[in-house]
Amino acid sequence: MNFEFTEEQLMIQQAARDFAQRELLQDVLERDEKAIFPAEHVKKLAELGFLGMMVPPEYDGGGMDSVSYVLAMEEIAKIDSSVAVIMSVNNSLVCYGLNRFGNEEQKQKFLKPLARGEIIGAFLLSEPEAGSDATHQYTSAEDKGDYYLLNGTKNWITNGGSASTYIVMGQTHPEKKSHGINAFIVNKDTPGITVGPHENKMGMRSSDTHSVMFTDVKVPKENRIGEDGFGFKFAMMVLEAGRIGIASQALGIASGAFERALAYSKERKAFGTEIINHQSLAFKLSDMAVKIENARNLCLKAAWLKDNHKSITVAGAMAKQYAADIAMEVTTEAVQIHGGYGYVKEYHVERLMREAKLTQIYEGTSEIQKIIISRSLAKS
Ligand code: CAA
Repeated sequence: MNFEFTEEQLMIQQAARDFAQRELLQDVLERDEKAIFPAEHVKKLAELGFLGMMVPPEYDGGGMDSVSYVLAMEEIAKIDSSVAVIMSVNNSLVCYGLNRFGNEEQKQKFLKPLARGEIIGAFLLSEPEAGSDATHQYTSAEDKGDYYLLNGTKNWITNGGSASTYIVMGQTHPEKKSHGINAFIVNKDTPGITVGPHENKMGMRSSDTHSVMFTDVKVPKENRIGEDGFGFKFAMMVLEAGRIGIASQALGIASGAFERALAYSKERKAFGTEIINHQSLAFKLSDMAVKIENARNLCLKAAWLKDNHKSITVAGAMAKQYAADIAMEVTTEAVQIHGGYGYVKEYHVERLMREAKLTQIYEGTSEIQKIIISRSLAKS
């Protein structure tokens, strides 16, 4: 077992850290306050090759491994989770799904511009009445011969307004339940697509989250991914990989809050000494450090398994559930350590606490991850 990173992995980590500290930090509070989409920062992500990190070079991606992706995501999420989730959805849902399951024509046409970061993508699975219960897709995808006709509504779509390419799940054969679902590549400017208003979220306020409505949207047959009825398995296998991204995002939120709490506790004095010298706070910091280290190891293990083409079903779920749950705990403690200062925006930790909450909800709640883990235990 080797716990050392390669030089390339360390370079990618450093590039992400520099970008986050030099560029994202300066306007993150304003973007959070006003819910401004980070368009210029997304362009820079593309220049850094961070929007198609793991796509092979022949499809215009960076050809990096998943371990590098975890390292980069952590650094970016330490400063700005909204940028991290835009990056995560494009990399580990959209590009990963197309690279692994798309055919050659689909890769040439759709994957390449996404991997170059010229455009970004979105993953449309959730619906008003199908969030955790993802097999119950109400969006219909009627087979009309040489095209499919999509009707329905998708909810909580990250990049819903900013994406140009959608991956959309819809039900073609309701009698076959999950085996009747298909996945499609859909251009956002196709007639019949309406994007709802920007959701006014508690955290990750500058990533754009929308509902998307489909009314008689014609999708060419060649845009279906895989065989007829493959859509649910496609979505599940893509989400497994996606969870490594969100786990790393949660890890970054936790470690960002921890770094701030540690620095503050070494500066702030109370009762005649720096507050880190008070055991009640030193023990909090110690507990936070252990949890972060555990979360980091789970993320890296899941990434290593993915890089080595081994199953990530349970490892991804464990990383996602644990990292999200400890992100909530660690950020809450970081606010507590800051006292009154933690409750105002300038100190960033209240924002990180708001951001942590979403990691327990999207790409499968913590409870969904426990279902996945416990089902695997029952089968073992
Ligand atoms: N790989 C391959 N196949 C899988 C699979 C996987 N990981 N998981 C399930 N399947 C298959 C099953 O084997 C089953 O096939 P068979 O009928 O042939 O056996 C079929 O899919 C149906 O699976 P289940 O019977 O397990 O379905 P279920 O209804 O009991 O529950 C679930 C499955 C795990 C709860 C699933 O619905 C789930 O993951 N829900 C959460 C959805 C989610 O994460 N949504 C996030 C939206 S995307 C997002 O948030 C992105 C963003 O914007 C940030």
